[in-house]
Amino acid sequence: MNLQDLKEAAARGRPCWRFCVAPMMDWTDRHCRQLHRLLSQHARLYTEMVTTGALLHGDVAKHLAFDPVEHPVALQLGGSEPEDLARAAKLGLAWGYDEINLNCGCPSDRVQRGAFGACLMREPRLVADCFKAMTDAVSIPVTIKHRLGLGREQDLGMLTDFVGTLHRAGCKHFIVHARNAWLEGLSPKDNREVPPLRYQAVYDLAGQFPDSIFVLNGGLSDHHQALDAMKSLGGVMIGRAAYQRPALLADVDQIWFDTTAPNEASPLFDRLVCALENYRSYMMRQMALGVPLGSMTRHTLGLFQGLPGARILRRDLSDQHALRTQGIGWFDASLARFLTVQRTAAT
Ligand SMILES: Cc1cc2nc3c(=O)[nH]c(=O)nc-3n(C[C@H](O)[C@H](O)[C@H](O)COP(=O)(O)O)c2cc1C
Repeated sequence: MNLQDLKEAAARGRPCWRFCVAPMMDWTDRHCRQLHRLLSQHARLYTEMVTTGALLHGDVAKHLAFDPVEHPVALQLGGSEPEDLARAAKLGLAWGYDEINLNCGCPSDRVQRGAFGACLMREPRLVADCFKAMTDAVSIPVTIKHRLGLGREQDLGMLTDFVGTLHRAGCKHFIVHARNAWLEGLSPKDNREVPPLRYQAVYDLAGQFPDSIFVLNGGLSDHHQALDAMKSLGGVMIGRAAYQRPALLADVDQIWFDTTAPNEASPLFDRLVCALENYRSYMMRQMALGVPLGSMTRHTLGLFQGLPGARILRRDLSDQHALRTQGIGWFDASLARFLTVQRTAAT
């Protein structure tokens, strides 16, 4: 597909959910989202999952504070008590989030012990009650992120029942990680790799519930593949590839939203450096508030993946001792070394 074909394929998605960056625990914190936003103005960003317990009994600002530049940004909640979820969703609305998303896909032991995440797929009526409670509490979209089913079951009856029950409760937005969750015997990491991907199940759902928006998630690694896989769905959600290779986000606005930002025509490398320089300004502001530099540079490590000198830059920017003792000077010197390698490689 050439660029024009890509843009035409992308325009079939629904603008709000056309290109989303997945919620990822320990990864998509507010610093990460800041960097992602500097790379794409339009991608929809998601927080890490925040449990109702953490929110209702913990430090609300710590969990919910974000920079207005992050819009559009969705808050992902973990929980299974309708009242608690309604209260948490209200907090999300009050803090300015654009969407509340309920996690029905996480398979971790901790989440299972709390009886939420993927095991909620067994309890569609409870999830429908949670959905209704949240929808009654807020005026922003409430969406559900879920799997295809549980364990090795290939039959999609549970999925149809789950989505059908929610649909009857008024839910019209589904983000589907297109593989089952195996709740026994697999780590969360393996649960993102071992159960087979089945995109066709998501296309079938979209056919069954044509008035709803389905966003496809799981195993998408570049724009061509994502556009190909999106077919006539509402959009795609990309997780690991976006985090590990954030350069992917620098092409999102042009391909998926056909925007004509002033620097769009400049080479990808220049746009990445520009984003990193802006992120540096952000880091300076955050350091003044006491945020450790290393907790922000960690999100930049994959930015120049594949380029000469990128591995050394990655090593330098993960050197916690140097970052702690030398601060932004270490960051600047590391970047300057990398840019020198680039200039030398270009001549
Ligand atoms: C480090 C990590 C943390 C994750 N944390 C969450 C989470 O908090 N909530 C959630 O719904 N999914 C979480 N996921 C799953 C992703 O949102 C996504 O569904 C999964 O990685 C598949 O998409 P991908 O193949 O594009 O990475 C996490 C994934 C990773 C790699």
